Amino acid sequence: MRRLSLFTVARLCRPFLKHKVLKFFTVTVIICFTLSIYHLQHRPIQAKRYVKSLPNYAWLKRSGQRSNQNDDRACVYPVLDPYSPEMMSFFEKPSPVECWIDEDWVYIENGTFRFSETALRKYGPDIECSYRTITRGKTDFEVERGPRVPFKDGDPLKTDFAVVRCYGRFWKKFETILSGISFRPHLHARYKPSMLLDSSMGFNVLMFGFDSVSRMTWIRNLRKSYDYFTKELGGIVLEGYNIVGDGTPQALLPILTGHTEWELPEARRGKPNAKHVDGFPWVWNEFKKLGYVTQWGEDMSHVGTFQMRMLGFKDPPTDHYLRPFFLEGEYYYEKSNCFGAIPTHTHMMNWGRDMFLMYKDKPKFSFLFHSKYSHGHTSQLQVADDDLLEFLQWLEKGRYLDDTILILMSDHGARFTSVRDSVQGKLEERMPFFSFRFPKKFIEKYPKAYANVKKNSKILTTPFDIHETFIDMINHTGTGVADIRRRGVSLFKEIPKSRTCAHAQIEAHWCTCLNWEKVDKVDKNVQKAISAVIQKLNSIIESQSHVCHKLELGIVSQVVRYSGAKEALLQFKESADRDGRLPDFSDNMAMSEILYQINLSTKPGNGHFEATVHHTVQSDNFTVYDKEISRLNKYGNQPHCVAGKLPHLRPYCYCKEQLSR
Ligand SMILES: *[C@@H]1O[C@H](CO)[C@@H](O)[C@H](O)[C@H]1NC(C)=O
Ligand SMILES: *[C@@H]1O[C@H](CO)[C@@H](O)[C@H](O)[C@H]1NC(C)=O
Ligand SMILES: *[C@@H]1O[C@H](CO)[C@@H](O)[C@H](O)[C@H]1NC(C)=O
Ligand SMILES: *[C@@H]1O[C@H](CO)[C@@H](O)[C@H](O)[C@H]1NC(C)=O
Repeated sequence: MRRLSLFTVARLCRPFLKHKVLKFFTVTVIICFTLSIYHLQHRPIQAKRYVKSLPNYAWLKRSGQRSNQNDDRACVYPVLDPYSPEMMSFFEKPSPVECWIDEDWVYIENGTFRFSETALRKYGPDIECSYRTITRGKTDFEVERGPRVPFKDGDPLKTDFAVVRCYGRFWKKFETILSGISFRPHLHARYKPSMLLDSSMGFNVLMFGFDSVSRMTWIRNLRKSYDYFTKELGGIVLEGYNIVGDGTPQALLPILTGHTEWELPEARRGKPNAKHVDGFPWVWNEFKKLGYVTQWGEDMSHVGTFQMRMLGFKDPPTDHYLRPFFLEGEYYYEKSNCFGAIPTHTHMMNWGRDMFLMYKDKPKFSFLFHSKYSHGHTSQLQVADDDLLEFLQWLEKGRYLDDTILILMSDHGARFTSVRDSVQGKLEERMPFFSFRFPKKFIEKYPKAYANVKKNSKILTTPFDIHETFIDMINHTGTGVADIRRRGVSLFKEIPKSRTCAHAQIEAHWCTCLNWEKVDKVDKNVQKAISAVIQKLNSIIESQSHVCHKLELGIVSQVVRYSGAKEALLQFKESADRDGRLPDFSDNMAMSEILYQINLSTKPGNGHFEATVHHTVQSDNFTVYDKEISRLNKYGNQPHCVAGKLPHLRPYCYCKEQLSR
């Protein structure tokens, strides 16, 4: 029907096409007409159960830019240099992690307490140890300590976590907290081959991540393990992976549930009717249905991904849940990067190893996410490189990777460290590291799916795609061409090169395929856009105006504009000049909006923000959406008056009463 209408219109217009100016005009009309029909027919259908304010996607109905005429991808993401001098100036060599003690007397291996040989030699032979179990209390914020119980070398762990205390010769004393996987018969009995669908791929999933690491920073800070992963293991890195929102939840929720926070039931602390996050459609539950044993853990328990702004879990979300370990450990070893003689990232990797030891032949889904080094620091992650390398080598040598899909990843790039002040840092925030490694068995059994992931690594991809890929592992539905009218698509299907941020529902603010141009701050529309940002910031904190300062404009450091209309026209002219035929505008539409991205500061408090303003040309309306504002510098204690009650207001509120430092 579309073709027919285009054809008919074209024929009717033929007389006009002879005149040069009329031709230009007519062709434009035809394009607009065709595209509106196309647009109506192809609107993505999304269940928007709990959608609050969703940005207007009108601007997105155009494709991205083609910087290179030979590049036929609609979205051309920037190619960045990890070692550009500007970026390297932010990086330095960190000092290694130093633990307060040299060696733990006790360690855990496959759910069993072990005494270290050195400790036995130095402080033995009669080392006396006891432990108290550490378990989750009634909520995500409580831990319970069991009674003190003596133990010997080789005794089994009763629960996953324990604080241990030992005495040896010369009245030497040792204390630490340990994590492992305790033997739980019902979990070993869970899996039965009949639980897998015929269409299930049946591989273990191990997803290991570091917080706030762009693809470039992963290469800079984790060079050895990166080389091993890509060269020796054949890992595939998604070069066009683009975030879909601000911060960790906006990355992990799409991956783990397939939804944005706004589509899921309200879980934010301080909001009416907010509930725990247990009811979200967590993908680990889908794996569990197939008999998988599940594991999830992150550090920095005081700012847990689902516990800081949200209410956290009512019940433990996975079979093995790390939170009580870090709650207890971080409380007692707050100032250190170690628990006992072991750095916290190594604890986390060891807990992953124990999972593979304990459930050697059982299907398992594991997700481990470490934040402490990379969340607020630029270079410190380097201290984990050797250990990550060793962890990967251990997995490979022990043949644990033979039936495991390994994912190394991050949620987003740096959000508020110095790196973020550079233009490349701004792009890097939006392009985190994300990668897959498939075992030989997978490549043999699913060669087409594997080839597609490789191809797709050069195409725009998002966290929603990762979720679809998980679902495709659970119930594989073939390898054809992905239907990009859907927001998320499985990476096992070939993603057409015509995919744009619009298809993937990436807002302009986050889309890295757009070319922005600098504009003058004195421009009348820029001034209106700037006031729209200040107004928006104040409207967000309006309900708390009795405690939060009204914000005023500080300094505007940069304004850039995206007006696809001009570019669409240029493209049109180019292709019309080339061969006189209609350009392929399959996803372009006439410009109805102009976008401004503004980097400004506010006072009091010197908050730095980056916001995208949508200027609707026809109604001359300037709109800023909640989800398109980034806070670029730390707010520290400034929002203390709302931090506990309304944590989602932290980036915006500068309390009238400031705590003295
Ligand atoms: C670890 O312990 C479990 C439970 O006793 C056992 O099934 C498994 O085989 C052990 N793993 C290794 C690698 O020895
Ligand atoms: C944004 O503004 C801050 C503070 O004025 C400045 O330091 C930074 O360089 C700016 N970033 C960009 C990308 O212009
Ligand atoms: C597997 O996917 C197919 C195709 O999408 C669907 O019809 C079927 O219901 C799915 N099976 C399960 C168990 O989810
Ligand atoms: C501008 O657009 C927004 C979002 O579409 C709408 O809520 C607002 O009422 C509009 N304002 C004006 C003055 O038209």
